[in-house]
Amino acid sequence: MAKDFLSLSDAGGDMVAAMINDAIDRKAARKGWAKARPDADAPLAGHVLAMIFEKNSTRTRVSFDMAMRQLGGSALILEAGSTQIGRGESIADTARVLSRMVDAIMIRTDDHAKIEELAHYAEVPVINGLTDLSHPCQIVADLLTVVERGFALPGLQLAWLGDGNNVANSLIEAAGLMKFTIRVGGPAGYEPDAGFVARARAAGGEVILTQDAREAVAGAQVVVTDTWVSMGQAGGEVHVAAMQPYQVDGALMAAAAPDAMFLHCLPAHRNEEVTDEVMDGPQSAVWDEAENRLHAQKSVLLWALGKL
Ligand code: CP
Ligand code: NVA
Repeated sequence: MAKDFLSLSDAGGDMVAAMINDAIDRKAARKGWAKARPDADAPLAGHVLAMIFEKNSTRTRVSFDMAMRQLGGSALILEAGSTQIGRGESIADTARVLSRMVDAIMIRTDDHAKIEELAHYAEVPVINGLTDLSHPCQIVADLLTVVERGFALPGLQLAWLGDGNNVANSLIEAAGLMKFTIRVGGPAGYEPDAGFVARARAAGGEVILTQDAREAVAGAQVVVTDTWVSMGQAGGEVHVAAMQPYQVDGALMAAAAPDAMFLHCLPAHRNEEVTDEVMDGPQSAVWDEAENRLHAQKSVLLWALGKL
């Protein structure tokens, strides 16, 4: 059975912790090296990852490509529109064909049902590079960034501001797996997925939903936000109006714990969900977070290919 990474739960809390530790070790071991030089053990030598993109990407695309290079393997980028998927070849047949030629598949797609279908028919691991429902790879990088700054995950106090989107859903999933508290501050009608909330609570995470931005950030050691309008999401102008009270600005950061860190998966819409003052300020860890996509994706690939 191929080890798919469609959600953080596919790996589980212990394995997510192991991924973070491995990423910290590998990152330290290659400090100062040329960026494409393979790690000393080149654990994925001879392996190829195919990446299918049905939506735009900068970080996910570059981090997985560089991750494969650093692990000693290589990657193929397939823009869905220029493949036969774009002309209607089925996901199932695409899965069967790619499984004969590559060792793993990463896909960024609009509809979560498509990645489930791909994983069902593929004989190689399938990795979720973002769907409308979730973005687990991002959260491994985010947790790595939090741990790197000296925070323990169990008992962590984290605030999410704005839209209850794919990134929020995976962060809520992480709260259950790693046993931390997440306070989600956002407008009515933009709550995160109810299934993710229920499962995280059942797993031992504390998930608090509020429409009060100040209540969300009170005592938070980490403040996280994302775009108010995700790729492919309809009704942009309505969203922006509803989200305004949840903008992360200096005053809202001051209402969090002293020295709270600020995270954003990027791309940011500066002076919408976050002000320049916060993005570029001393509490922002967004560039480390972006770099950590690379280190985190290496761990995800190693886990999926049975090397972790
Ligand atoms: N955070 C993230 O997934 O970025 P990209 O859309 O650039 O891949
Ligand atoms: N929620 C955003 C994340 C982008 C990385 C989106 O889906 O567009």
